[in-house]
Amino acid sequence: MSERRPLISGNWKMHHNHFEAIQAVQKLSYVLSANDYDAVDVSLHPPFTDLRSVQTVLESDEIPIALGAQHCHWEEKGAFTGEVSAGMLAKLNVSLVIVGHSERREVFGETDDNVNRKVKAVLANGMTPIMCCGETLDEREAGQARDKVERQVLEGLAGLKGDQVAGLVVAYEPIWAIGTGKTATPEDAQEMCATVRNAVRGSWGTEAADSVRIQYGGSVKPVNAPDLMRQSDIDGALVGGASLDPDEFARIIAYRLVG
Ligand code: PGA
Repeated sequence: MSERRPLISGNWKMHHNHFEAIQAVQKLSYVLSANDYDAVDVSLHPPFTDLRSVQTVLESDEIPIALGAQHCHWEEKGAFTGEVSAGMLAKLNVSLVIVGHSERREVFGETDDNVNRKVKAVLANGMTPIMCCGETLDEREAGQARDKVERQVLEGLAGLKGDQVAGLVVAYEPIWAIGTGKTATPEDAQEMCATVRNAVRGSWGTEAADSVRIQYGGSVKPVNAPDLMRQSDIDGALVGGASLDPDEFARIIAYRLVG
């Protein structure tokens, strides 16, 4: 199972205009070395308005960072003001799309059914979904964290084939840890990521469970990344705030050199 390649993803949320994005990518590429890219897959998920600029920098400077998006609509086209389709992202060489981030679910009312449609649209366009799941503090304190996360995984991935699930990414992000500076302990994060993997095993089999990559997200910083990444069911990190600063993000990517 150690053959799962770590994936460290920077979710910029609604930060960095396209000028700032170009600078941030260039700076990150100066700080990262071939050793980093050998050991870890890296993706960046800028706002939609930055995608074309970031794509151009990555391709013209041959920087081996995958271009990601934060969201998409499930329809190919139509009267959906403000939305962007998976096919439009694929045309920009986007390869990973975050789907069902808790901010989309909580602030914009995305349901598990919406998430499922988006996962399918992303796959249909040859890209990889990073499907997010995670519990609120109330749900954790009420002992419902595992049930909630299992349900999000089963409903979000419903109808997929085992080989499709094997190739995708699930991000476990406890909502109480996002942007709060509170991180799940490595043991709690491991337990919940194992819950995700067991849910995959139960519905899609051992091969899918052994291959699916599971990220932890929620206040990941250079100081806590090594302990989180050491857990057997944690295959990467979805990083928000700390990915905005290229130096800080690079230190997370270099987690294996610490400790
Ligand atoms: P954070 O965000 O690292 O700022 O907590 C993580 C996320 O929402 O993906």
